[in-house]
Amino acid sequence: MQRLIIEGGRRLEGEIAVHGAKNAVLPILAATLLGGSSTLSNCPALSDVDAAGRILQTLGCTLKRQADRISVDAHSVEFREIPETLMREMRSSILFLGPILARCGRARLSFPGGCELGARPIDLHIEGLRRLGAVISEEHGYLNCSVRGRLHGAEITLPFPSVGATENILLAAVTAQGRTVLHNAAREPEICDLADFLNTCGGRVSVEGDRISVEGVESLHSGDYRVIPDRIEAATYLCASAATGGEVLLTGVRPGHLAAVLPALETAGCRINTGEDWIRLAAPHRLQAVPSVKTMPYPGFPTDAQAPLMAALCTAEGTSLFVETIFEARYKHVGELRRMGARIEVEGRVALVRGVESLSGANLCCTDLRGGAALVIAALSAEGRSTLTGLRHLDRGYQDLEGTLRRLGAKISRERE
Ligand code: UD1
Repeated sequence: MQRLIIEGGRRLEGEIAVHGAKNAVLPILAATLLGGSSTLSNCPALSDVDAAGRILQTLGCTLKRQADRISVDAHSVEFREIPETLMREMRSSILFLGPILARCGRARLSFPGGCELGARPIDLHIEGLRRLGAVISEEHGYLNCSVRGRLHGAEITLPFPSVGATENILLAAVTAQGRTVLHNAAREPEICDLADFLNTCGGRVSVEGDRISVEGVESLHSGDYRVIPDRIEAATYLCASAATGGEVLLTGVRPGHLAAVLPALETAGCRINTGEDWIRLAAPHRLQAVPSVKTMPYPGFPTDAQAPLMAALCTAEGTSLFVETIFEARYKHVGELRRMGARIEVEGRVALVRGVESLSGANLCCTDLRGGAALVIAALSAEGRSTLTGLRHLDRGYQDLEGTLRRLGAKISRERE
């Protein structure tokens, strides 16, 4: 079992480059199934990206990885069932359903896995694909899907702007016959990135706020594309610096994508400057509480940044209030933070964080990807030594986490037993 060992109490200081967005590269990799051969750059080295690569290979694609570039040749895609082990590895595996159906006319896969954040149904994906002409039945945990002829365009209104359902519908609609209009679509930057990639390859997708129109095309052609920076990785390192009274310069980032996160850090007392592709944060010795942080679909405060910010505010002066509106079980990190001396009360979707003077190092276990990042942040700010297990969660979303933090002056190492 691997462990992270963190000696806390060191101020993080320095400059780091942000990697490409996990949540953008995964749907774009799924989209490569629709085209000839594509080369993606700014791809992070993450276990979820590897898992997406293995799904593509299972379906007959050839993949080549060189540094941050992944080339996918999808000329000889053929219908194959996606093995359950791959589906269970990450929730985003469901994003392959739309493109497989579009390309092969049928698909068979099991329900996806991923972080346990309470019930994570896929009803909106299934309903959307049905509206585009897919016939989908469920048996023994498997989805059997087929299309008679070709998928067709439809007018669809999502009851909730689900990121994954928006992407799946978009991926299926781009080569469907006729026009699709999706209302109440998710507006996350990763959706625009997917649309931009599809258009680079000959798709006809237009995104106007929460309305996405797609004029179906016969097929997509090859394309080269650079993935957007990871706003959640950026938010995590900003929170880590803030928690340690540090000063950090992030490069290769889009500050506009963090428009809801930066004001929260400013309320906490951090000084923030931004340029076109950089963010500089200077934190005070002790943070101030943030009176209210409510997670919302983009452009609201991202649910993925909730746990990292909470970790930073555990030692702020005053009481911070969090309301989680996206996922029902997204406070799993709280129990671990309490082991370090944090004073947090949770009632349903609300968490009250009463700032304490300091946290103390402890033996911790990552509960999920962003909850794990929160524990790393808490351990960096804590007095003494912490050990963290459950690192497979962190490896899904952070490339060389400990190397990056070491460059900022953290004392952190990975023990491989
Ligand atoms: C994506 C992100 C994840 C982020 C989340 C919200 C990726 C790979 N993951 O996840 O990091 O936290 O957006 O910003 O991009 N829901 C349904 N039925 C559905 C689909 C979703 O009820 O068919 C519910 C979910 O249970 C959840 C909420 O909608 O409560 C949000 O889910 P969704 O926006 O779909 O998130 P993901 O695409 O899973």
